[in-house]
Amino acid sequence: MTGRIPEETIQQIKQSLDITDVIGEYVQLKKQGRNFFGLCPFHQENSPSFSVSPDKQIYHCFGCGAGGNIFSFLTEVENISFQEAVSKLAERAGVTVEVPSFGGDGKKQPAVSEEKEQMLKAHELLAKFYHHLLMNTAEGQEALDYLEERGFSASDLETFQIGWSLPNWEFTTRFLEKRGFPLEWMEKAGLIIRKEDSGSYFDRFRGRIMFPLYDEKGSVVAFSGRSLHDEKPKYLNSPETPIFNKSRLLYNLHQARPAIRKQHRAILFEGFADVIAAARAGVETGIATMGTSLTEAHIQQIKRLANEVIICYDGDLAGMNAAFRASELLISSGCEVRIASVPDRMDPDDYIRRHGGEKFLHHVIETARTQMAFKMEYYKQGKNLQDEGQKLQYIEEVVTEIAKLKKAVERDYYLRQIAEQFSLSLEALKQQEKQVFFKERKKQHQHAPAPQATSVYQAPNKLYPAFQTAERRLIAYMLKSDDVAYKVKELLGGNTFNLDEHQAIFTYLLGFYEGGHEPDASAFITFLPNDTLRRLVSDIEMMMISKVASDEEIHDCIQQIFKHRKVLEIKVKKQQQISAEKAKDYLAAAKIAKEIMELKKELH
Ligand code: CTP
Ligand code: MN
Repeated sequence: MTGRIPEETIQQIKQSLDITDVIGEYVQLKKQGRNFFGLCPFHQENSPSFSVSPDKQIYHCFGCGAGGNIFSFLTEVENISFQEAVSKLAERAGVTVEVPSFGGDGKKQPAVSEEKEQMLKAHELLAKFYHHLLMNTAEGQEALDYLEERGFSASDLETFQIGWSLPNWEFTTRFLEKRGFPLEWMEKAGLIIRKEDSGSYFDRFRGRIMFPLYDEKGSVVAFSGRSLHDEKPKYLNSPETPIFNKSRLLYNLHQARPAIRKQHRAILFEGFADVIAAARAGVETGIATMGTSLTEAHIQQIKRLANEVIICYDGDLAGMNAAFRASELLISSGCEVRIASVPDRMDPDDYIRRHGGEKFLHHVIETARTQMAFKMEYYKQGKNLQDEGQKLQYIEEVVTEIAKLKKAVERDYYLRQIAEQFSLSLEALKQQEKQVFFKERKKQHQHAPAPQATSVYQAPNKLYPAFQTAERRLIAYMLKSDDVAYKVKELLGGNTFNLDEHQAIFTYLLGFYEGGHEPDASAFITFLPNDTLRRLVSDIEMMMISKVASDEEIHDCIQQIFKHRKVLEIKVKKQQQISAEKAKDYLAAAKIAKEIMELKKELH
C-alpha cells in the first residue's frame, strides 16, 4: 500500500519524528498520564477525546474513531495523498525521498480538483504580481507612499505580500487569459466579473491596495482590496468561492499558528490592518476575522491551538458590542477570555501609530481585563450614573452578570467592588445576587436538559460482549508480540475470529510478522489497507492496557471465541428447529433439538 516509496524510507521518517511534535502543530496537546490529549481535529468537540501515544506513536479519537500514525494523520488533516504526506514528513525529518510524480502513473486522483487547483494557482500568481506592481513600478508609487505614510514597514509589505491592482478594467483578465487560465473558473474564483450583456469579462479589483488572504495551509484563496482614495466600499473582498469561506477564514492564521500553539494564546482583532500593525509591535499571535462576526468555525480552529484568547477590538461602541458577543461565544465553548480595551475609541492600528508598539503591548495587551471587569465597563455605556434610576439599572445588570460566575471567590470579589464603588452594603448586594441566581437557575431548569459534564477526559470504558473483548484483547497482545500471534494461530486451528474486521487484522498481522517485521503498532498501521482497520487497530491499542499475556489468559480468550461460535450455532439451529416444526417434520426437529442439547452441554 505504500506505493513506490520504499519501506525503509517510511521507517526512517518515522524514526526521525515524534508523533506528538507532528500532531502538536495542529492540536494543542496536554499530557495526562502516558498519553497526550487534545481536541480532535476531525470532528467538532468541546472536551478533548483525541489521544496521542508517544510510546506507540499512534493517535486515536474516542469520539469519532479517527486513528492511525503520523502518515494517516497528515493525510487526513491536510486532505492530501499518502505520497504527499510522506514527502512532507520526509522534508521535516531531513530524509530524501523519491516521490512518484503526480499524474505520472495516470491512476492517481489529484487531492483537489483541477478547477480548484487552477483557482489557487491564479491567486498565487496574482498575489506575487500585485506585490511586484506595488513595490517596483511607477504605477504603484502612490499606493506605496500611502502605505508608508500609514506606517507600514518594508518588511510588513513583504511578510503580508501587500500589493497594488492597476486602475484598469481588463488588466487582470488579460493577465489570466494570457496564462491560459479558463476565464469561467476565474470568474467563479471571484477575480473577474462577467458582463451580463456581452458575456465578456472585467476585473473585480481595480486601483486597490491588495491584501492576499491565506487559508490555514498558507495558500492565497482570496483578496481584500482597500481603496486608496475614498472610493466605496473601503474594503472590497472576494466573494465566497469554492476556495474561500468567509466565515471560516482567519487572517494571518497560517503565519501565527506556531506562536499561538507555543503560547497557548491568540489575539483576536477586528481588522487585518490591526493584525499587521500589532505584528510590527511584536505580536506574533494576531489573527482577525474578515469583516464578519466570529463564528463557531473560527472558534474551533482557534481552540485547537490555544486555550486563551485576548479580544482586542476597536475601542468604539460597535467594537465593544462585538467584543461582548465574541467573549460570550468563546467562553461558552470553553476558552479563557480577556478583553483588551483600546482607549479613546481608537482601533489598535490607530493606537499603535499614535503611541507606538511598546505602549500598545504594555498598556493595551498586558492590561487586558477579565470578561467580568470588561462587562462592568460595558454596562456603563450610555448611562449617567449620577442619575439614581440609571445607577440602579446598572447595578442590577452587573449583579446579574456576577451571578453567572462559577467561582464563589470571583463573585465575592466583584460584589465587593460594586459595594465600594457605590457605597452599598455588601450584605444587601449578596442577597440580591442570590435572588438573581435562583431565578436564573429556575429558568434554566425549565428549558435546558441536564447540564453536561465537560472537563478532564476519561476514556470511555465501552461495554462489548465478552467474545468481542476477548478478541480485542488477543489483538492487543499480538500487536505486542509475534510469538503470541503465532500461538493464537495454532490455538485457533482452522477457526477464525468472530468479527470479520478482527479476522482481517489478524491475517494482516501474520503477514506483517512473516514479512520479517518486528512488533510495532504504528508501522503495522501503515501496512493496513484501509481506514476502518487502521482506526480499529489504533482504538484497540489505546483502549487495552496490555501487559504481557499469560498463557492462561490467552486460553481464556480463545475459549470465549469458541463459545461465541457455539452460541451462534445454537441460534441457527433453533431457527432450523422452528422451520422443521412448521413443516411438520417432527423427526428432523427432534434431531436438531438433540444437537442443540449437545452444543449447550459443551458450553458449560
Ligand atoms: N471590512 C470590510 N468591508 C468594509 C469595511 C471593513 O470587509 N467595507 C472588514 C475588513 O476586513 C476590515 C475590518 O472589517 O479589516 C475592520 O474594518 P475597519 O475597522 O473599518 O477597518 P480598519 O482596519 O480600521 O481599516 P483602515 O485602518 O484601513 O481604515
Ligand atoms: Mn483603522
